[in-house]
Amino acid sequence: MSRLEIRDLHAGVDGFEILRGVDLTIESGEVHALMGPNGSGKSTLSHALMGREDYDVTGGSATIDGTELLGLPTWQRAAHGLFLGMQYPVEVPGVTVRDLVDAAYAARGNGGAPSDLPDRLRDEAARLEITEEFLTRGVNTEFSGGEQKRLETLQLAVLEPKFAVLDEIDSGLDVDALRDVARRVEAMTSERNLGVLAITHYARLLSELRPDRVHILMGGRIVRSGGPELAQELERTGYEGIAAELGIEELSVEKPKEADPFAEPGF
Ligand SMILES: Nc1ncnc2c1ncn2[C@@H]1O[C@H](COP(=O)(O)OP(=O)(O)OP(=O)(O)O)[C@@H](O)[C@H]1O
Ligand SMILES: [Mg+2]
Repeated sequence: MSRLEIRDLHAGVDGFEILRGVDLTIESGEVHALMGPNGSGKSTLSHALMGREDYDVTGGSATIDGTELLGLPTWQRAAHGLFLGMQYPVEVPGVTVRDLVDAAYAARGNGGAPSDLPDRLRDEAARLEITEEFLTRGVNTEFSGGEQKRLETLQLAVLEPKFAVLDEIDSGLDVDALRDVARRVEAMTSERNLGVLAITHYARLLSELRPDRVHILMGGRIVRSGGPELAQELERTGYEGIAAELGIEELSVEKPKEADPFAEPGF
């Protein structure tokens, strides 16, 4: 059993604080859903966890089994068992999925990729209904939105991390792809105890992924947590309903506008 523990995480960009104290604990095999209005800091949380350079962590901690991840380079975080599926995957011309998976295994040490990797890639591709031709094309170049997400799920399945942060893995997926991807991720949680933080706007993903906990992020903080029924409540009331109930005024985190040096006084 492993534990991903986020404590009082503060992070932002250019001196502007976006995350204002996030606490979250995920155990192996659990699925946690993170929902929240646009601009509330969900993607910022995934970037801060993965160590994207343009995001500054200004306080708190994020550990896997007690090992501090913050401050480590991204590849070391991955080596400790963290995987990030991005809201907008990066296009890498000329680098195939196989190359990416090889590089990830090499970074972990332990002798690099397992010898049966080609077979596993092929099996996973079949399971996710990805034609083999996709395995030899540059990552995400000329892939449709849905194909990108299927390929990310394939990488997740082959790399076998301890925890996966999936940022809107359902965005742009048609209903069949959504079901295939969600079922594959769900199978990883039960077959090999993957812990998941699924960032999503839609309860539909959660009907397949069956979260243990649902958290709502507003204004850079988790303001409510509950069971799967919280996602249903949200569908009914919207974020505004929940904000009104909790007396929260700030739903998203917006950088204050800088004073316009050309503005004329009196306007
Ligand atoms: N690199 C950045 N530079 C400047 N501002 C940023 C940057 N990243 C995020 N922000 C701002 O921080 C706030 C939170 O953004 P974030 O992408 O984390 O929101 P989100 O909850 O993922 O929203 P969405 O549901 O639309 O994906 C937004 O106001 C956004 O404009
Ligand atoms: Mg986002």
